[in-house]
Amino acid sequence: TFTPRVFSGIQPSGNLHLGNYLGALKRFAAAQNEGIESIYCMVDLHAITVWQDPADLRRATRELCAGFIASGLDPEKSILINQSQVPEHAQLAWIFNCVARMGWMQRMTQWKDKAGKNAQNASLGLFAYPSLMAADILIYHATHVPVGEDQKQHLELTRDIAAKFNHDYGVDFFPLTEPVIEGAATRVMSLRDGSKKMSKSDPSDASRINMTDDADTIAKKIRKAKTDPEPLPDNTDELDERPEARNLVNIYAALADMPVEQVIADHAGQNFATFKPSLADLAVAKLAPIAEEMSRLMGEQDEIDRILTRGAERARAITAPILRQTYDIVGL
Ligand code: ADP
Ligand code: NA
Repeated sequence: TFTPRVFSGIQPSGNLHLGNYLGALKRFAAAQNEGIESIYCMVDLHAITVWQDPADLRRATRELCAGFIASGLDPEKSILINQSQVPEHAQLAWIFNCVARMGWMQRMTQWKDKAGKNAQNASLGLFAYPSLMAADILIYHATHVPVGEDQKQHLELTRDIAAKFNHDYGVDFFPLTEPVIEGAATRVMSLRDGSKKMSKSDPSDASRINMTDDADTIAKKIRKAKTDPEPLPDNTDELDERPEARNLVNIYAALADMPVEQVIADHAGQNFATFKPSLADLAVAKLAPIAEEMSRLMGEQDEIDRILTRGAERARAITAPILRQTYDIVGL
């Protein structure tokens, strides 16, 4: 009974990388012509759950906006916003803080990973992060959220919050949102460690390909990527035991818009000394035009700010009525 609507967000907290591109940005751009209303968000309120230098944050938010557009998102077709410019996200998050349970948050693996052994010193915001994420999604009554694997648990929590709200207040007001996790690159791994996902927060720059890396840097990082000494197999099953090889093949498939089986068929028996340069050429061919467009847009700050102001106006036409109804239901 809910109209299909898509929401997804990315943190403006450092370098956009190949995992963000393949797991998120590229798919957003591909989906925008399906005629479903879509909202894409720079989640700056999420970024400050850990310390951000204010000037860096402002720059990263604009750079992320440039990244969305350079990846092919059309701000006329989709609604492109910066989270803090749409205050209903934070307002609904407070209500959800009162719906969600402490125990639910404590079970989140991202909380455990990010807070680590020093949880007493983590911010309260980092702990409550999934509640704000639920609000980001549900303030639009979004039905679908395209994300990478890493966000699956947070999406389950979003459904739990919606279900508990609906149950506690005896309404059918918030949808049970579906994660959309598909394609070869739902989990791009670190180039240095096949057991860790590629991430903005990895201290090793060699672990990731940044969307703004130049061609030489991309080639060097791929050349130095950790691999095993065996040539590529002739079937995908054998990749299961070889996480680093699988990662590079997955990246190739996602960049080339090819099934993994096709990549294996084309490159079976090749050594990495041969495969890696092909992958580097492909990555440069796909990423260089995007980096170029990002840098052009970064020179047009007024244009970016205008796009975000317009996006916030369009977003608030959706979020303000939903917040008002929520307040009514709650008795506020
Ligand atoms: P990061 O984890 O690097 O800080 P975000 O949390 O801002 O990135 O995630 C933004 C989007 O990019 C989410 O949809 C997330 O699932 C996706 N994403 C992040 N890292 C990866 C990865 N290594 N592989 C695939 N998708 C990813
Ligand atoms: Na993440």
